Amino acid sequence: MKVATHHLRCTECAAVIPKDEASSNFRCPQCGGLYEVVYPWSDVRRDVKPGTETDASSAPTATFADLVNLLPNPSALRWLWQERRSSTMSVDQSGVWRFRDLLPIVDDFEKVVTLREGNTPLYDLPRAARAMGLNWLLAKHQGMNPTGSFKDTGMTAALSVAAQRGFEWVACASTGNTSAAMAAYAARAGLRSIVFIPEGKIAWGKLSQSMDYGALTIQLKTDFDGCVKILADLVQRFPIYLLNSVNPYRLEGQKTPAFEIVEQLDWQVPEHIIVPGGNLANSAALGKGFTEMYQLGLIPRRPKVSIIQAEGANSLDRSFTDANRVMKPVVAETRATAIRIGNPASWRKAATVIDELGGWCEQVSEQEIGLAKAEIGAEGIGCEPASAVTLAGLKKLVALGKVTPEERAVLVLTGHTLKDSQYTIDYHRNELFTAAEKAQLSPGDQARHAALRRPPIVLEADSSVVLRTLESYMNQPQPV
Ligand code: F0G
Repeated sequence: MKVATHHLRCTECAAVIPKDEASSNFRCPQCGGLYEVVYPWSDVRRDVKPGTETDASSAPTATFADLVNLLPNPSALRWLWQERRSSTMSVDQSGVWRFRDLLPIVDDFEKVVTLREGNTPLYDLPRAARAMGLNWLLAKHQGMNPTGSFKDTGMTAALSVAAQRGFEWVACASTGNTSAAMAAYAARAGLRSIVFIPEGKIAWGKLSQSMDYGALTIQLKTDFDGCVKILADLVQRFPIYLLNSVNPYRLEGQKTPAFEIVEQLDWQVPEHIIVPGGNLANSAALGKGFTEMYQLGLIPRRPKVSIIQAEGANSLDRSFTDANRVMKPVVAETRATAIRIGNPASWRKAATVIDELGGWCEQVSEQEIGLAKAEIGAEGIGCEPASAVTLAGLKKLVALGKVTPEERAVLVLTGHTLKDSQYTIDYHRNELFTAAEKAQLSPGDQARHAALRRPPIVLEADSSVVLRTLESYMNQPQPV
């Protein structure tokens, strides 16, 4: 298929601009809205007969017949995407670019910047499913990407665009994962990168990554939202390519896990996708991925997408309880530092996904996040705290009857457990929560936390001492 063209369309006022005419802050000059990438086939629906309906705003000069001819054949695509996995070419081995037919955003696919991202596992979580009364529960582990988070799928896309458009400098503001991914991909491409992170408010593993990959790492004495403001100002003054998720090309890469999820389920569509919410681009990207597959006839329906936020960074959740759906920024505070964001840039895109695909927004407490993270760890999977909001949120959706036992839910685990090992150590040593937070726990939850905690034991190097300790440990029942 030859569709090497795309446009950018404002998601608020629907203004369409050519692909290389976006301003440096990726905001629509008319209304300040964010762009999305649209292709000639973006708005075509397979179930509409030629001549009866078309919205060709993405390709104003194309006729309906032209658009239909550009549509790939679903069976051919499924076969092609699977075949590419056995190729030795890096562009085929990438779990993003093997779907390149649906993201024709670069001029030369052979020159994409890739670390063989994507192709991440879909695990089952039988114990968590059983505990909630669900028949099954799956986790798409995006932490199994080259730099340990889902950001790699977006970064390969947007950084390839930056490289092919001849930029020398790239930059992002980050809570840690975007910066790690950007630094790695920029290094691979030979570009220079600048990272803005909130001082003292990101996990050490992530900070170490951007240094390791050679980025200029600047810690600003502010929070993530403050870093975004400074960078927005800078990109207007210097030729720096902005790689925050307002860059619509990031979302093109981040939509591909949606393709992988249904591919891994033999092209069956789960009922629910549960995503953590921070700056709210990932939920928007996954929604776009499912919608495009639906439009292309690859899947017969779309799953519901639910977004879970931390209670201390819950601006989207608040907007859903506001009659006028107004998003009021909050001063964010949560130990899940990846999603410590009070003024999410993509909130409208994310709200549209919930409205169009169905699903809900929920918020979860620090104690609920800690428990869910330990439960995911105890299944041998592990994830970073921000990812664990998905399990904590799903428990609430099940309790509210919004997810039923026979429905299939997929948690999107966004980051690897080693990203924030300090959190895990503090949790298991029972040093994570304040006394006030511990006092809020019900007796049942206290018992659940206690059964999961595995603090390290320090012993004399004496085998009889070790044996005595092991005996007492082995007499304890295995937690279910
Ligand atoms: N989970 C993790 C591990 C993250 O790092 C992020 C965002 C999210 C979830 C939320 O995704 O922003 O698309 O809603 N991290 C960004 C960063 C903001 O800078 O690394 P989102």
